[in-house]
Amino acid sequence: MSERTSDKAGASYKVIDSGDYADSFDHKQAFALDVLVGLSETRKTLSSKHFYDERGSELFRTITRLPEYYLSNCELEILENQKQQIIDTVGAEPFNLVELGAGFGRKTKILLKDLLDGGLDFNYVPIDISESAMKELVESCSELFPKLQTTGLVSEYFSGLKWLNNRHQRRNVVIFLGSSIGNFTHAEARIFLRNLWSSLNNDDLTVIGFDLKKDIELLLAAYNDSRGVTAEFNLNVLRRINEELGGEFDLSKFRHFGTYDVFSGAMESYLVSLEQQTVYIKTIGRTFEFAPWEPIHTEYSYKYLIDDIERLAAETGFCVEEHLFDSRRYFADSIWRARKEASNGKS
Ligand code: AVI
Repeated sequence: MSERTSDKAGASYKVIDSGDYADSFDHKQAFALDVLVGLSETRKTLSSKHFYDERGSELFRTITRLPEYYLSNCELEILENQKQQIIDTVGAEPFNLVELGAGFGRKTKILLKDLLDGGLDFNYVPIDISESAMKELVESCSELFPKLQTTGLVSEYFSGLKWLNNRHQRRNVVIFLGSSIGNFTHAEARIFLRNLWSSLNNDDLTVIGFDLKKDIELLLAAYNDSRGVTAEFNLNVLRRINEELGGEFDLSKFRHFGTYDVFSGAMESYLVSLEQQTVYIKTIGRTFEFAPWEPIHTEYSYKYLIDDIERLAAETGFCVEEHLFDSRRYFADSIWRARKEASNGKS
């Protein structure tokens, strides 16, 4: 693990080479491999993790401000209205506030302000794989909160947490907001949370944003917005393939389709081919065939019941401290405590 440090305006971030990404396996190769595997399947898939280049992140930011996309406003309402509960549950002992997948949004700013106003003693440690996003984040943090010690870690989530634990004795409060957990299948969510549990010490806390099951019409509207931003966001993965892998997708020959699976409880996004077509991708050196109306699965956004959340916590080694809801009960920020009595420490 190597470190590079960059300082500007009092804020700093470190680039931690985990070995997985930075050295042996670069992003472009990983992207090309995922595309090759996903488009070679009988049921074609492209992972939503590839939505987020600069343009994709900007489109997502626009989505979070759309009236139909209720999730962001609900979570904002929770953080604004329930700040005292959050402060009381987190407690007075000094801690690292670790944010997974930072992307400096309105929500984080509100939470940081809540915690600072509450007089809590904490360092802010955002972790994100994107160095450019991290640079922007730590600089805006130092402007807005000059007294807050912010140390960004450019790394994968669990390498960053491991790095932090090897250097700091402080307890951790790890936040994973915005229903990002919903983009994992249930099996992936369990693996992710068990990995998180392994990176934490007994009694560390985590705050996770879950979008709750609700009227299906509201879900469909949120993922098929009237301005077509979600459609553009979904199509962005094809644009990325064109730009970064020399793909020849004609974006006008695919349409966004967002639907809800009542059995699994997931909103699902697809890109549907509007005609028979053959698309060449230069970096992969292959063509891919699309039949008329053939779908490419691009995203899961799982919705939860409180029972599902409590089961997930119990299965992965956490106990639920509290669920915080918005006034319509559309969304929950759930606060969990890592329980490690048996091993009494990291494992
Ligand atoms: C980032 N993630 C939680 C969003 C979601 O709701 O699943 C991404 C998104 N997809 C379509 N709209 C927003």
